[in-house]
Amino acid sequence: APERTLVLVKPDGVRRGLVGEVLRRIEAKGYTLVAAELRTADAELLGAHYAEHEGKPFYPALVEFMASGPVLAVVAEGHRVIEGFRVLAGATDPTTAAPGTIRGDLGREWGLRVTQNLVHGSDSPESAAREIALWFPHL
Ligand code: CMP
Repeated sequence: APERTLVLVKPDGVRRGLVGEVLRRIEAKGYTLVAAELRTADAELLGAHYAEHEGKPFYPALVEFMASGPVLAVVAEGHRVIEGFRVLAGATDPTTAAPGTIRGDLGREWGLRVTQNLVHGSDSPESAAREIALWFPHL
Protein backbone atom coordinates (compact mmCIF):
# COMPACT_ATOMS: atom_id res chain seq x y z
CA ALA A 1 0.00 0.00 0.00
CA PRO A 2 1.32 3.51 -0.71
CA GLU A 3 2.63 5.42 2.26
CA ARG A 4 1.35 8.74 3.56
CA THR A 5 3.27 11.61 5.15
CA LEU A 6 2.40 14.93 6.75
CA VAL A 7 4.00 17.97 5.14
CA LEU A 8 3.75 21.47 6.61
CA VAL A 9 4.62 24.60 4.68
CA LYS A 10 5.68 26.65 7.69
CA PRO A 11 4.72 30.30 8.29
CA ASP A 12 7.90 31.56 6.58
CA GLY A 13 7.00 29.60 3.44
CA VAL A 14 3.41 30.88 3.41
CA ARG A 15 4.56 34.48 4.03
CA ARG A 16 7.07 34.25 1.18
CA GLY A 17 4.51 32.89 -1.26
CA LEU A 18 6.19 29.50 -1.65
CA VAL A 19 3.13 27.27 -1.12
CA GLY A 20 2.71 26.69 -4.85
CA GLU A 21 6.41 25.94 -5.32
CA VAL A 22 6.40 23.32 -2.55
CA LEU A 23 3.23 21.67 -3.89
CA ARG A 24 4.70 21.73 -7.41
CA ARG A 25 7.77 19.83 -6.26
CA ILE A 26 5.65 17.24 -4.41
CA GLU A 27 3.44 16.70 -7.46
CA ALA A 28 6.35 16.77 -9.93
CA LYS A 29 7.97 13.95 -7.99
CA GLY A 30 4.83 11.90 -8.62
CA TYR A 31 3.24 12.01 -5.18
CA THR A 32 -0.50 12.46 -4.79
CA LEU A 33 -2.13 15.14 -2.64
CA VAL A 34 -4.67 13.55 -0.30
CA ALA A 35 -5.60 16.58 1.83
CA ALA A 36 -4.52 20.20 2.22
CA GLU A 37 -5.62 22.90 4.63
CA LEU A 38 -4.38 26.41 5.38
CA ARG A 39 -4.70 27.17 9.06
CA THR A 40 -3.05 28.94 11.96
CA ALA A 41 -2.13 26.30 14.52
CA ASP A 42 -2.76 26.90 18.22
CA ALA A 43 -0.46 26.04 21.12
CA GLU A 44 -2.32 22.81 21.86
CA LEU A 45 -1.87 21.41 18.36
CA LEU A 46 1.76 22.53 18.16
CA GLY A 47 2.53 21.14 21.61
CA ALA A 48 1.24 17.75 20.49
CA HIS A 49 2.94 17.95 17.10
CA TYR A 50 6.33 18.84 18.60
CA ALA A 51 6.00 16.81 21.84
CA GLU A 52 9.34 15.08 21.19
CA HIS A 53 11.15 18.44 21.21
CA GLU A 54 9.66 19.68 24.49
CA GLY A 55 12.45 20.77 26.82
CA LYS A 56 14.97 21.45 24.06
CA PRO A 57 16.46 24.95 24.02
CA PHE A 58 14.81 25.87 20.71
CA TYR A 59 11.34 24.57 21.64
CA PRO A 60 9.62 27.76 22.91
CA ALA A 61 10.80 29.79 19.91
CA LEU A 62 9.82 26.95 17.58
CA VAL A 63 6.24 26.89 18.86
CA GLU A 64 6.05 30.71 18.79
CA PHE A 65 7.30 30.76 15.19
CA MET A 66 4.96 27.99 14.08
CA ALA A 67 1.98 29.87 15.57
CA SER A 68 3.03 33.19 13.99
CA GLY A 69 0.84 32.77 10.92
CA PRO A 70 -0.95 30.24 8.77
CA VAL A 71 0.71 27.01 7.73
CA LEU A 72 -0.37 24.78 4.86
CA ALA A 73 -0.86 21.26 6.19
CA VAL A 74 -0.73 18.59 3.48
CA VAL A 75 -1.08 14.84 3.40
CA ALA A 76 0.89 13.41 0.48
CA GLU A 77 0.81 9.81 -0.65
CA GLY A 78 3.14 7.64 -2.68
CA HIS A 79 5.76 4.91 -2.67
CA ARG A 80 8.26 5.68 0.15
CA VAL A 81 6.90 9.23 0.37
CA ILE A 82 8.10 9.72 3.99
CA GLU A 83 11.74 9.27 3.05
CA GLY A 84 11.18 10.81 -0.39
CA PHE A 85 9.78 14.07 0.91
CA ARG A 86 12.62 14.44 3.41
CA VAL A 87 15.04 14.13 0.49
CA LEU A 88 13.05 16.79 -1.40
CA ALA A 89 13.14 19.03 1.70
CA GLY A 90 16.90 18.74 2.29
CA ALA A 91 18.85 19.15 5.52
CA THR A 92 17.36 21.04 8.48
CA ASP A 93 19.81 23.95 8.16
CA PRO A 94 18.99 25.90 4.98
CA THR A 95 22.56 27.19 4.77
CA THR A 96 23.99 23.71 4.25
CA ALA A 97 20.98 21.99 2.64
CA ALA A 98 21.97 20.71 -0.81
CA PRO A 99 21.07 22.72 -3.90
CA GLY A 100 18.14 21.06 -5.64
CA THR A 101 16.28 20.63 -2.36
CA ILE A 102 13.47 22.89 -1.10
CA ARG A 103 15.57 24.24 1.76
CA GLY A 104 18.78 24.33 -0.30
CA ASP A 105 17.17 26.29 -3.13
CA LEU A 106 14.72 28.47 -1.22
CA GLY A 107 15.69 28.47 2.46
CA ARG A 108 16.94 31.83 3.52
CA GLU A 109 16.45 32.81 7.10
CA TRP A 110 18.16 31.43 10.13
CA GLY A 111 16.10 33.07 12.84
CA LEU A 112 17.72 34.29 16.02
CA ARG A 113 16.47 31.35 18.06
CA VAL A 114 14.80 28.97 15.65
CA THR A 115 15.39 27.50 12.24
CA GLN A 116 12.96 28.95 9.72
CA ASN A 117 13.35 26.21 7.16
CA LEU A 118 10.16 26.44 5.11
CA VAL A 119 8.82 22.91 5.49
CA HIS A 120 8.28 20.02 7.83
CA GLY A 121 7.97 16.37 6.84
CA SER A 122 7.21 13.37 9.05
CA ASP A 123 10.36 11.41 9.86
CA SER A 124 9.00 7.86 10.25
CA PRO A 125 5.83 5.81 9.64
CA GLU A 126 4.99 6.18 13.36
CA SER A 127 5.39 9.97 13.24
CA ALA A 128 3.39 10.16 10.01
CA ALA A 129 0.45 8.26 11.51
CA ARG A 130 0.55 10.36 14.69
CA GLU A 131 0.89 13.69 12.87
CA ILE A 132 -1.78 12.94 10.24
CA ALA A 133 -4.22 12.04 13.05
CA LEU A 134 -3.43 15.36 14.79
CA TRP A 135 -3.83 17.63 11.77
CA PHE A 136 -6.51 15.69 9.90
CA PRO A 137 -8.56 13.76 12.48
CA HIS A 138 -11.21 12.93 9.86
CA LEU A 139 -8.75 11.04 7.61
P1 CMP B 1 11.02 20.27 11.87
O1 CMP B 1 11.26 19.22 10.84
O2 CMP B 1 9.73 20.98 11.82
O3 CMP B 1 11.23 19.64 13.31
C1 CMP B 1 11.66 20.39 14.41
C2 CMP B 1 12.07 21.78 14.05
O4 CMP B 1 12.84 22.44 15.03
C3 CMP B 1 12.95 21.75 12.83
O5 CMP B 1 12.18 21.40 11.70
C4 CMP B 1 13.54 23.15 12.89
O6 CMP B 1 12.64 24.14 12.42
C5 CMP B 1 13.71 23.32 14.37
N1 CMP B 1 15.05 22.95 14.81
C6 CMP B 1 15.60 21.73 14.78
N2 CMP B 1 16.85 21.77 15.30
C7 CMP B 1 17.07 23.05 15.67
C8 CMP B 1 18.17 23.73 16.25
N3 CMP B 1 19.30 23.10 16.60
N4 CMP B 1 18.04 25.04 16.49
C9 CMP B 1 16.92 25.69 16.16
N5 CMP B 1 15.85 25.09 15.60
C10 CMP B 1 15.91 23.79 15.35
